[in-house]
Amino acid sequence: MTDRFTLDNKLPGDYFEAALAADVRKGLAAPPRSLPPKWFYDARGSELFEQITRLPEYYPTRAEQEILTRRAPEIAALTRARTLVELGSGSSRKTRTLLDALTTAGTLAHYAPLDVSESALREAGQALCRDYPSLRVTATVADFATGLDLPQEAGPRLLAFLGSTIGNLDPAERTSFYAVLRGAMSGDDTLLLGADLVKDPAVLVRAYDDSQGVTAAFNKNLLHVLNRELGADFDPDGFDHKAVWNETEERIEMRLRARAATTVKLPAVDLAVEFTRGEELLTELSGKFRRDALTADLAAAGLTVRQWWTDPAERFALLLVVPA
Ligand code: SAH
Ligand code: AVI
Repeated sequence: MTDRFTLDNKLPGDYFEAALAADVRKGLAAPPRSLPPKWFYDARGSELFEQITRLPEYYPTRAEQEILTRRAPEIAALTRARTLVELGSGSSRKTRTLLDALTTAGTLAHYAPLDVSESALREAGQALCRDYPSLRVTATVADFATGLDLPQEAGPRLLAFLGSTIGNLDPAERTSFYAVLRGAMSGDDTLLLGADLVKDPAVLVRAYDDSQGVTAAFNKNLLHVLNRELGADFDPDGFDHKAVWNETEERIEMRLRARAATTVKLPAVDLAVEFTRGEELLTELSGKFRRDALTADLAAAGLTVRQWWTDPAERFALLLVVPA
């Protein structure tokens, strides 16, 4: 392995025993039951997400890639980034478009991906070092929801948060996340934010309930994680995958619905959860955005939208955001 790649695991040694257990106690003990989506992403979950990005129904990845392909040279010229930091980087596949443009512009020296999935970071980081011979890659396994410890490298830094992962935070979490981001940014840093836009609910529901059942497998992977990490005895076949458009909140909600009344034991947290027939466990929010509200939310955190780009079909937006 090249010495241009490092991987630093900043998660506490008892992350699953402590953080997952705490989320389970908080979210599963009583209805309405819910768990945060970050627990999808073990090695299999990360791989299933990659499969989702290639599904005909899942347009966000292709729409964001279209914008990146068109705008990357402008992003490179406007930011002149020396360090590219990426939150929730996953496979870093779309990031290559930015790496190419910043390399061509001659400013980039360092890529710092951060993700909760160690397997995704390792695979992506090693491949990138092979393909970008002068790039230093420092990967960090961390949870961006519990504070941001950005690399203190020479600027300017470009902070990328792509894929509309921002939509997986609820409105209160988003507000505090914008404030944390603003606090971590210096005057010459720029944020590149990907945001999926409100559109025809039928298109949205199809994107989260695909005909091949890949999103269903991704959703149910959470139950496999709970079985493995907490010794739970969920039967994934006993739950149906649901993707529901919440019109009021303008978000897709992924849920797992119990096919029959069942009691699930989770010995590691000393819990027995009784699901009634048809009871739902909320596993993910995927908020969709409108330009005015998103601009106002960022402004309230001291962040100014400098560029708002969409794909030609206006399904997805990519924003270049600077400290006010
Ligand atoms: N940015 C990529 C991947 C999006 S999938 C893209 O646009 O395609 C969401 C990614 O965020 C996953 O790789 C997941 O492991 C990571 N993630 C989710 N919650 C996280 C958290 N709380 N902290 C760090 N990474 C997280
Ligand atoms: C990572 N995140 C933005 C995806 C989304 O669209 O909310 C996760 C996902 N869930 C189901 N399909 C994709």
